[in-house]
Amino acid sequence: MKVRGCLLLDLYPRIRGAEVTVVVAPEFRRRGAGSFLLEEGCSRALSLGLEFLEVSVDQGNVGSVRLFEGHGFAPFSGAAPGMIKLRRALGG
Ligand SMILES: CC(C)(COP(=O)(O)OP(=O)(O)OC[C@H]1O[C@@H](n2cnc3c(N)ncnc32)[C@H](O)[C@@H]1OP(=O)(O)O)[C@@H](O)C(=O)NCCC(=O)NCCS
Repeated sequence: MKVRGCLLLDLYPRIRGAEVTVVVAPEFRRRGAGSFLLEEGCSRALSLGLEFLEVSVDQGNVGSVRLFEGHGFAPFSGAAPGMIKLRRALGG
């Protein structure tokens, strides 16, 4: 069986947040898999009691920025040089 993609939630210590990573195998991209994994990750994070998710992406990674912005992530401070940090608040 071929792995088509994966999502990782890296929980921060002491605060109710996590860094999210989503990867889809190149031959399966642009078919909605990244969107599915990301929404599933947000639902799981919410059910774990997390309040926000963050991601840091390379500034040139336009496709990833579009993916995350399309799912409620917005630019947030604290990115390392050459990176963009995006955050999505969860729940109400
Ligand atoms: C980013 C990634 C996960 C997207 O996965 P995907 O399955 O292709 O995503 P989707 O098909 O759900 O795309 C949803 C939307 O994101 C945007 N998008 C995704 N890839 C894009 C690209 N290469 N160029 C422009 N927009 C892109 C589009 O708006 C797209 O909607 P559309 O296809 O209707 O135009 C995939 O390209 C990947 O694994 N990249 C390498 C790892 C990475 O950079 N991960 C992000 C940082 S953790």
